[in-house]
Amino acid sequence: MDKPSDQFGAKPAVLRCARCGKFVDWEEAQVQVVCSCRPRIDLPPVLVREATDADRAAARELFQQDFGRTEIVAFGEVMDLDQMPALVAVMTEQPAGALAYRLLGAALHIVALATDPMWQRSGVGGHLLAEAELLARRLGLQRIVVSTTNDNLPALYFYQRRGYRLRDLVPDSIIAHTRQQVPGFAGIPVRDEVRLEKTL
Ligand SMILES: CC(C)(COP(=O)(O)OP(=O)(O)OC[C@H]1O[C@@H](n2cnc3c(N)ncnc32)[C@H](O)[C@@H]1OP(=O)(O)O)[C@@H](O)C(=O)NCCC(=O)NCCS
Repeated sequence: MDKPSDQFGAKPAVLRCARCGKFVDWEEAQVQVVCSCRPRIDLPPVLVREATDADRAAARELFQQDFGRTEIVAFGEVMDLDQMPALVAVMTEQPAGALAYRLLGAALHIVALATDPMWQRSGVGGHLLAEAELLARRLGLQRIVVSTTNDNLPALYFYQRRGYRLRDLVPDSIIAHTRQQVPGFAGIPVRDEVRLEKTL
């Protein structure tokens, strides 16, 4: 069995530098304020669909690459992403992003969302999120919930930009699982679970 830190805390290179395009480790990534000078790039359309059995391995690889694991701790549970329904986003042939979800009471819970660093800032994450919201509406759900960690400023930015609101902070919840302090985005210690919610 993996060490606790490997299961829940260790994060390999997953993000792509907005300036030079190089992949960057969580720990080395930084936040920078920019204006809207970055041009919109014309990219192939993103197709989002329910993951088929054939997509499973690729989705697993995306989660493994972005989170360093396929088990996620959120809302007081440890979940195996392999066992969850998922959406995948396809830009060329292989899935460029994946979103795992489940029902949590009267809400759709986004358990994990990962875009291949190669395709980040191409609309993949936004399309996956929009499709998850459509799915929740089709299921008659009024809320969509997601959680991330205190260090994950790109995710906190991404979700709040798309109408999600901070709902709860669960202090030290991640440390309770890792049993040690692990450096996350920009070296910020990964400690707390931050829960966000959007009313549909
Ligand atoms: C957070 C994450 C999922 C975002 O995914 P993404 O695919 O990069 O998201 P998008 O491309 O839809 O949006 C990102 C930005 O790219 C911009 N963008 C999208 N298409 C673009 C294009 N064609 N040209 C230029 N910019 C574009 C978007 O406008 C957005 O910026 P904004 O929010 O300032 O408007 C991704 O960074 C990731 O996988 N992170 C690691 C895992 C993680 O932290 N997951 C979340 C926790 S569960």
